[in-house]
Amino acid sequence: MSLRSLKILLTGVSGQLGHALKASAPVALGGSPLELILCDRSNLDLADPDACRAVVGHLRPDWILNAGAYTAVDKAESEAEHTFAVNAGAPRAFAEALVDCGGRLLQLSTDFVFGGAQGHPYRPDQSRNPLGVYGASKASGEEAIEELMGTSGEGLILRTSWLMGPVGQNFALTMLRLHNERDELNVVADQVGCPTSTRGLAAACWRLIEIAQGRNSLPLKCHWCDAGAASWYDVAYAIGELGKQLGLIECEAKVQPISTSDYPTPAPRPSYSLLDCRETWHALDLQPLHWRKGLQEILLELKRLRSGQPLI
Ligand SMILES: NC(=O)c1ccc[n+]([C@@H]2O[C@H](COP(=O)([O-])OP(=O)(O)OC[C@H]3O[C@@H](n4cnc5c(N)ncnc54)[C@H](OP(=O)(O)O)[C@@H]3O)[C@@H](O)[C@H]2O)c1
Repeated sequence: MSLRSLKILLTGVSGQLGHALKASAPVALGGSPLELILCDRSNLDLADPDACRAVVGHLRPDWILNAGAYTAVDKAESEAEHTFAVNAGAPRAFAEALVDCGGRLLQLSTDFVFGGAQGHPYRPDQSRNPLGVYGASKASGEEAIEELMGTSGEGLILRTSWLMGPVGQNFALTMLRLHNERDELNVVADQVGCPTSTRGLAAACWRLIEIAQGRNSLPLKCHWCDAGAASWYDVAYAIGELGKQLGLIECEAKVQPISTSDYPTPAPRPSYSLLDCRETWHALDLQPLHWRKGLQEILLELKRLRSGQPLI
């Protein structure tokens, strides 16, 4: 007798987390072979709630892993309607359809759902106080899942921060390029958070689903970040050092610390965005990497990719 497969619909496959999830997808989860259905904007527009509901009715996934999102934090300020459609409308539509059809949802979320002024790590159960349009849209997506799936345990929200990987658009890849192009870099030193590698986060996503499949109870809201704390300045400095050590850049730029007020942006940034991840690290029984080690792995992976080897 053949085992019934576990059907997982993955959105955002062309994004940085989507790449890592695809590359690390297990063959089986909880004893069931995995059937992964990949969605990008060519086959599902997340801004279209009818399309999101229809795909669930048509494909009947056991899980949706919603890694797709509108992540352009500054542009979101002038594209609020579209940002909300993708970041709040899609999770709501998925949750509604999954409640009807019987399936579960793992929704990725962000430190921007908090105000960023607390001064000690945000716990998963703290109330939201989102920053900017992007933060508000992601918070609204969380609210929909809480409202529709909060009591059934069929929905999970996994928040992370400062996501970086070897593919896509992120601070690590931008800084690496700038180290190569410039003699000096001015980087904000008064915003504190924790870089998180896409690879570690992807492993956490797969583990969450595995545990939830075993019907072990998990809190509705979980936090996964790499370990430690840093400012953007610290991360930019480390990228120069590690990039040079690994031969990805010829020489590092001089990194100068500046303050948030020296670098105005359309969207407000949290000055403190550390998430308290201890409960989730423990529940998943996964050891997080220190962010600097995670960054080193990202750059090593980038080196492999540049030499023509596939993503691992
Ligand atoms: N990046 C961070 O620092 C960070 C921090 C905390 C939390 N998060 C959360 O982590 C998750 C993954 O983020 P990420 O950094 O991997 O994002 P990303 O690299 O920007 O990828 C987002 C993906 O969503 C897709 N997408 C956007 N609008 C769409 C639409 N209308 N229809 C279909 N697909 C659409 C994008 O497609 P295209 O490639 O075609 O544009 C892309 O593949 C998101 O939920 C994000 O909010 C990210």
